[in-house]
Amino acid sequence: MSLQVSDLRVYYRSLAGDVQALDGATFSIADKEIMGLAGESGCGKSTLGNSLIRLDGRMKYVAGSVTLDGNKLPIWDQKGMNEFRFRDVSVIPQYAMSAMNPTRKIGKMTGELLESRGESYQDIKPELLRRLDLVGLSQDVLNRYPIELSGGMKQRMVMVISTLLNPSLLIADEITSALDVSTQRAVAETLVSFRDHGFVKSMMVITHDLSILYQTADSILVMYAGKLAEKAPTATIIDKPRHPYTKMLISSLPEVGIRYANKKLAGIPGSPPALLNPPAGCRFRARCPLAFEKCVEEPPFVQIAPDHSVACWKVPGSNA
Ligand SMILES: Nc1ncnc2c1ncn2[C@@H]1O[C@H](COP(=O)(O)OP(=O)(O)OP(=O)(O)O)[C@@H](O)[C@H]1O
Ligand code: SF4
Ligand SMILES: [Mg+2]
Repeated sequence: MSLQVSDLRVYYRSLAGDVQALDGATFSIADKEIMGLAGESGCGKSTLGNSLIRLDGRMKYVAGSVTLDGNKLPIWDQKGMNEFRFRDVSVIPQYAMSAMNPTRKIGKMTGELLESRGESYQDIKPELLRRLDLVGLSQDVLNRYPIELSGGMKQRMVMVISTLLNPSLLIADEITSALDVSTQRAVAETLVSFRDHGFVKSMMVITHDLSILYQTADSILVMYAGKLAEKAPTATIIDKPRHPYTKMLISSLPEVGIRYANKKLAGIPGSPPALLNPPAGCRFRARCPLAFEKCVEEPPFVQIAPDHSVACWKVPGSNA
C-alpha cells in the first residue's frame, strides 16, 4: 500500500471560526494506482491534496494520520516535511503554470530547485534531457523563459520537474483545467506514461472534470462538502455509482464515454452547505432526493465491496 490516510481533518482559521474544509478523510492509494479526486468547486479537493504535502499558515491540522510507504508523514510540521517533499511526495499545485517565476530561465529554475534539495543539477541533467524528449519538449526549453512556452508545454515542463526525483506519490491539482481539449488529452496521457515508466509510483489527480478521469484514473474518490462520499474503480463510479451525489454528478455530465454522450449538463439543484459551522448529519441532506430521518446522523464511510466505499445510509451495508 503506497498511501494511507486515516481520519484526516484539516480546517482553515478564519475570524468567524474554523472552516471545516477536510473533515475526516480515510482512504488509501495502492502502488501503481492513479486515483482521481472529484467533486464540486469548494468541496475540499485542493485542501486534501495540499494537506499531504504542505499546510500553509491558514491551515490547521486537527487530527488524523498520513502514511506513505510505511513512513508516517509529519504533515503538521513544515520543517519535518522538508525531507519528504519533492523526493517522496510531490505536488503540481493548482495554477502552477501561471506561478512559474517569469524572470528565471527554465533550466536555471530547475537547477536551483534541485540544489535546494541537495541534488546536483549536472548529475541529473542527462535524465532531465531524456524525460524532456519523452514528453516531446526540445532541450532548448531550458534556455527559455516560461512566457515563451504554450500552456501545454508549460504543463508538461512542470510535470517533468516535479517528478525528477521519482517521488512515490504525485499530486496533480487541476493540471488540465486551463488547456484546450486536445492538449488536455495529451497531458492526461503523459500522466499515465509517467506512472508506466515508473517516474512516480502512484498519483492523485484532482479535477472537477470527470471526463479526464475517465481516460486517466484507475479509481475515483468523490468528495462532497469536506467529506468523502464514495471511492471505487473508475468503471464502477461511472456505470454503477451508489452514492446519490455521485449518481447526480455522473448523470449531469455532458459526456463521459459514449453512454452519456447525449445527456445535457443538467447541474445539481441547490448548493453545498457552508463549511463554517456545517449542519450535523449527512452534508448532502438538503439536496438529496433520498434523505430520510436517519440522515440527521452522519453516515460512516464504509466498505461495501473489496474496493468500494460509500458514505450513505441508503446504501445496503451502511447499517441503516
Ligand atoms: N484560506 C482559506 N480560508 C478560509 N477558507 C478557505 C481557505 N481556502 C479554502 N477555503 C475553503 O475551504 C473549502 C475547500 O476549498 P478547496 O480549495 O480545498 O476546494 P476545491 O475542491 O479545491 O475547489 P476548486 O474546485 O474550486 O479548486 C472551500 O469552502 C473554501 O471556501
Ligand atoms: S445519508 Fe441520507 S442524505 Fe446522505 S446521501 Fe444518503 S440518503 Fe442522502
Ligand atoms: Mg482546488
